[in-house]
Amino acid sequence: MTQIDPHETVDPTAPVLLFDSGVGGLSVLAKLRAILPQAPVIYVADNAGLPYGDKTEAQIAARVSGLLGRLTERLRPRLVCIACNTASTIALASVREVLEVPIVGTVPAIKPAAAMTRTGVIGLLGTAATIRQSYVDRLEAEFAADKLLLRHGAPELVAAAEAKLRGDPVDPAVYARAADALRAQPGGDRIDTVVLACTHFPLIEAELRVAFGPGVAFVDGSDGIARRIAFLTDGQPWHRNKPDLALFTRGGIEVDRLDSVLAAHGLAEVALF
Ligand code: DGL
Repeated sequence: MTQIDPHETVDPTAPVLLFDSGVGGLSVLAKLRAILPQAPVIYVADNAGLPYGDKTEAQIAARVSGLLGRLTERLRPRLVCIACNTASTIALASVREVLEVPIVGTVPAIKPAAAMTRTGVIGLLGTAATIRQSYVDRLEAEFAADKLLLRHGAPELVAAAEAKLRGDPVDPAVYARAADALRAQPGGDRIDTVVLACTHFPLIEAELRVAFGPGVAFVDGSDGIARRIAFLTDGQPWHRNKPDLALFTRGGIEVDRLDSVLAAHGLAEVALF
């Protein structure tokens, strides 16, 4: 029997689908563009469900698997990237079980942080839902058992990143509060490495850098995700036959005001899903 080469069967126009609750996945898209500029992309923001971080595990799992099921059926992507730590740490395994398309998830960058820290104290900023996941406990046990990992759930930072990209002013006290909440925990004064365990947070890294002050390094998973997508699609044909698309699950003025940011990320068309 002749083997079917999976690369030959890929439709060159089939997009990579990036999924997040809001604009956070754009931090992943930026890295993907840098290494795979030829890849057609559909970016999906489930902004009707934003923020995921305040929802229960059951709510997030139901939303993410329901939406991704409908999206993959309708849009036929070659690969789906769940560009959201909250959705990945909760729903990645179950989504993988039901969808046939390859799925790349977003994992809090605890492993690289453990290799980077000199003081042995790592801060982790995520959503409230992410920081309580056993997925994070397992990463901590596997890669940072000899380190001190301090966690803080910061929904305010998700709102801040959304506001920043819309062009709204953000009170710098929001960033200071996140830094203070980590520093105030026992051992927190020795934090030298901070994991940005929410895809929204690299979008406000400059502001967080100011809030934490010198001597603190930041790490997130976006480079690794982009490399993983490139690896999984290696050798596949690419052809962009229409402008890349951003889909939102709810329209309105807040989406309209993202137009220039979306265009800067190569997402020339915006529509509702
Ligand atoms: N961008 C998402 C993440 O990486 C979460 C934002 C939200 O709370 O919806 O966790």
